[in-house]
This record gives sequence, C-alpha cells and structure tokens, in this order.
Amino acid sequence: MRGAARLGRPGRSCLPGARGLRAPPPPPLLLLLALLPLLPAPGAAAAPAPRPPELQSASAGPSVSLYLSEDEVRRLIGLDAELYYVRNDLISHYALSFSLLVPSETNFLHFTWHAKSKVEYKLGFQVDNVLAMDMPQVNISVQGEVPRTLSVFRVELSCTGKVDSEVMILMQLNLTVNSSKNFTVLNFKRRKMCYKKLEEVKTSALDKNTSRTICTFGRIFHGILIDEKDPNKEKQAFVKTVKDQASEIQVTMMLTESCKLRGLHHRNLLPITHVCIEEGEKPMVILPYMNWGNLKLFLRQCKLVEANNPQAISQQDLVHMAIQIACGMSYLARREVIHKDLAARNCVIDDTLQVKITDNALSRDLFPMDYHCLGDNENRPVRWMALESLVNNEFSSASDVWAFGVTLWELMTLGQTPYVDIDPFEMAAYLKDGYRIAQPINCPDELFAVMACCWALDPEERPKFQQLVQCLTEFHAALGAYV
Ligand SMILES: *[C@@H]1O[C@H](CO)[C@@H](O)[C@H](O)[C@H]1NC(C)=O
Ligand SMILES: *[C@@H]1O[C@H](CO)[C@@H](O)[C@H](O)[C@H]1NC(C)=O
Ligand SMILES: *[C@@H]1O[C@H](CO)[C@@H](O)[C@H](O)[C@H]1NC(C)=O
Ligand SMILES: *[C@@H]1O[C@H](CO)[C@@H](O)[C@H](O)[C@H]1NC(C)=O
Ligand SMILES: *[C@@H]1O[C@H](CO)[C@@H](O)[C@H](O)[C@H]1NC(C)=O
Repeated sequence: MRGAARLGRPGRSCLPGARGLRAPPPPPLLLLLALLPLLPAPGAAAAPAPRPPELQSASAGPSVSLYLSEDEVRRLIGLDAELYYVRNDLISHYALSFSLLVPSETNFLHFTWHAKSKVEYKLGFQVDNVLAMDMPQVNISVQGEVPRTLSVFRVELSCTGKVDSEVMILMQLNLTVNSSKNFTVLNFKRRKMCYKKLEEVKTSALDKNTSRTICTFGRIFHGILIDEKDPNKEKQAFVKTVKDQASEIQVTMMLTESCKLRGLHHRNLLPITHVCIEEGEKPMVILPYMNWGNLKLFLRQCKLVEANNPQAISQQDLVHMAIQIACGMSYLARREVIHKDLAARNCVIDDTLQVKITDNALSRDLFPMDYHCLGDNENRPVRWMALESLVNNEFSSASDVWAFGVTLWELMTLGQTPYVDIDPFEMAAYLKDGYRIAQPINCPDELFAVMACCWALDPEERPKFQQLVQCLTEFHAALGAYV
C-alpha cells in the first residue's frame, strides 16, 4: 500500500542563513490583500475619486486580467486569496509595488491571465546577480498575444548553486492594445535566497566556520497521510524529503538512513511508515507523528516547567525512560543492527511516557547544532560518538553503548547539550586525554557510575545493553522503595 502525502508548510529551515527569511509574510502584503476588495469593482462608473490607471479607455477596453491564483498565493505566502495585478484593465500599482519573497525551495511561479480582445505583450527579465541565479525561463514565448482564454504561464527561477546570495528579480511585461504606439509597462519584483550547492563547497569544508552549515540536505514537512482506500481517514505524519539541489548520493543516504529500522518490530522502536519513490518525484520518507513527539524537546519542556514545579518529572520516570531505550537497543544489538546515532533527539515519547527509538531521519534538520562536519562532507553527531568511531570510523554495539551513556546524561540533565564548551574539532583529543562529561547536579552516584562505564575507552570494557537493562531496572526498583 502506498500512502499519498499532502505536504503542509515546511518545517524549520536547515540552513542557518535562511532562518529569518522563512519568516511569515511581512505585514504590507497582508494589508494589501485586505485592501483588494476595496479596489474599484470592474466596470464601475467613474467616481469623483481619481480613477486608477487603465490600459486604455474603460468602455472599449480589452478586459485584461493578470493575477496569482489562490493555489499560487497559498503556496507562496500561505494565505487563501487571489492576488490581482490587473483586473479588467485596472492596474493595481500597489500589488505591483510589492517585492514578493519567493521561498528558497520554490523554483516555479505561476501567473494566470487572459484578455477579451487583442493585446500584444513583450516579456523580459532582469536578475541582479547572474552568478547566483540563471536567467528566468518561461514556458510561453517572450512576445505574442495575451491568450483569450484563462491561461497560466510558468516562470522558472533556478539558482545556479554557485554562491549564497539574495537575488532580486524583475519581470517586465509590456502590453500594447490594438497595435497603438501606447503601451503599458508592468514591473513585477521578486526576491529569492539562493544557496551554494553541496558539491561546490566540498573544498571549503576544511574551514571550520563554513563546514558546520553545509551538511543538511533534507527538508521536513508536517504532512497528512491519506488512506487511498478511505480518503476520509487522515493521519498526521512527518514527511522528510530532500532539497531541490540534493545530489543522488544524498538521496541514497537519506533513504539508507531512513530504512535502517525497517522490518524490525519492538515496542521501543519506531520504524518509518512509508517510503514513497516515484518516477520524477523526490523520494519521501514518512514517519509517524506522535502526540508528545521528540524526547529531547520533551525534556527541555520539562526543564522549563521544573523551574516552577520541581515534581514535574521524577527521577524514577527518567530512569524508566532510560530502561525503555536500553530495551530497544538490546533488541537491535541482538539483531546485529548498529544504530550509530542514539541520542534523545532520536527518540520519541507519547503521553504515557512510552519511549521509542527512531532512526535519525528527522534530527539532522531539527537539531542541526548536534551535528558537525569534520572536514569531510559527512555530518556526524560528534558529541555522542565513541572515540573509536570519531578516530577510526569504527561502529559497533559497543559504540552504541557509549551513545546510550550520553543519552542517559541527557535524560538526567533534561536535555542539555553534552560537552557544550568543547569545540567539536577538539572532541577526539579531549576524550583521548581521558576527559568525560561531568556528573550532573542531582544525579545519583549509582547512575553516573553507569554512564561512566559506557564511556570506557576500550569497547570491550563497556557494559552490554542487556546488562544495562538489568542494572537500571534494579536501580529503578530501589528508587521506588524509597518513595
Ligand atoms: C496613452 O494612454 C494613456 C491612457 O490611456 C493616455 O493618457 C496617454 O496620453 C497615451 N499616450 C500616448 C502617447 O498616446
Ligand atoms: C518595455 O518598455 C520599456 C519602455 O519603453 C522598455 O525600456 C523595455 O525594454 C520594454 N520591455 C520589454 C520586455 O520589451
Ligand atoms: C506553462 O506551465 C503551466 C504550469 O505548469 C501550464 O499550466 C501551462 O499550460 C503551460 N503553458 C504553456 C503554453 O505551455
Ligand atoms: C481595435 O482594432 C479593431 C480592429 O482590429 C477596431 O475595430 C477597434 O475599433 C480598435 N479599437 C480601438 C480602441 O482602437
Ligand atoms: C571563524 O570563526 C572564528 C570565531 O568563531 C573567527 O575568529 C574566525 O575569524 C573565523 N574564520 C573565518 C575564516 O571566517
């Protein structure tokens, strides 16, 4: 069975520079849409108020209209409205004056237009940064007649992927009525953020400052899954897909990562629900959406609440979560599946405090600060990694145990970042020198001893998940005995 996914609005942006630009539409446009109904109705008799500019005499006008359809406005700015630039020959200079921000993942703009009688047009484009954006392409000829039936034309705004830059785009449409010498010039202004393509920046990956920003290539939507057999059955889901400029390798990486837990069944594992791969479409990975969601966010929420209410979440609850994670990991270890990215951000929790481990399909985008590129193009959870993984790229259930120790520390600190003061590039040297994360305040010695065992330099000396389950269960019982 294949689920159809209806994409919602994009989740948080992954590129640091884009954060501000994905912001909701600036107020002037809202105002503009609110004003539209107040503009003179088509064909209305000339009032004493100044007439808005027209293409030609209103009575025998060609009835030109040019607008963005409701779908297009929703797609671009998330509002349900049509946006008219010309309605029955009346030009909205206010609408034209607005420089619309095109979301960076949007490559196509659609304009709807028509005229009742002959109107000739000429279409031209200007781009202020040709290094960052190719000349816009359009699927109609640059010169011709405005169609007599309602038609759509498409403008393609593709970034070159060579530089990071905000690009200003001007689309100019000159309209001539009845081959007269008199024509009307309409200017449409657009802005779009362009980013460097991943492949192009490989060489600069050694520069610590830029390397942090180049590795995420995915995008996340909050989507709705519709059952093909019963379209009324809707289910919320996370949908992960790749950015437009993602290379084939990145697509493969996303799919391999996302399929790690496929076919495994355990109450403490949350596998993906669907993978959609269709010819010509970007692959999509669909993950269930849970009420409480991400464990790391949940812990941070608890920390906020804790300030006012110390009883918000008990140590016993936290240890119970740790036991569930250890159970899920023990199952994976028995199946000889190495997770490679165990962390609170890769667990989910529901309102009964049931915890499930997920793959890392979402977390690189939700928590980009937890991943770092160390000179190559791979994005690693450096602060969660065992020394042998960092240095020799060796992964095993024992390196998963190391990460479990860090996850336990995250639980006890309610979602703090481990080794927060240590530069990720210094992590290997720091661990080699024997340093580890400090014991959290209020963390019982017994529990810190468990973490410390997980961080033994020699993988053989680290406990097995089965032993961790056992020892945490005993500790949990002991906690219960005291309350
Ligand atoms: C062009 O048309 C406008 C309005 O229809 C008119 O005011 C203007 O004088 C015309 N210009 C020429 C050169 O015909
Ligand atoms: C539209 O008219 C203006 C003014 O004459 C001219 O400068 C511009 O090149 C024309 N644009 C197109 C696309 O023909
Ligand atoms: C241009 O593209 C749009 C949207 O894809 C389509 O609806 C329209 O028919 C196309 N127009 C032409 C002339 O191909
Ligand atoms: C436009 O041209 C048609 C013939 O092609 C003519 O009948 C009509 O009167 C003209 N209209 C104007 C406003 O010049
Ligand atoms: C990198 O960042 C550091 C501080 O974070 C700064 O001192 C240094 O100049 C930056 N280097 C480059 C090449 O931008």
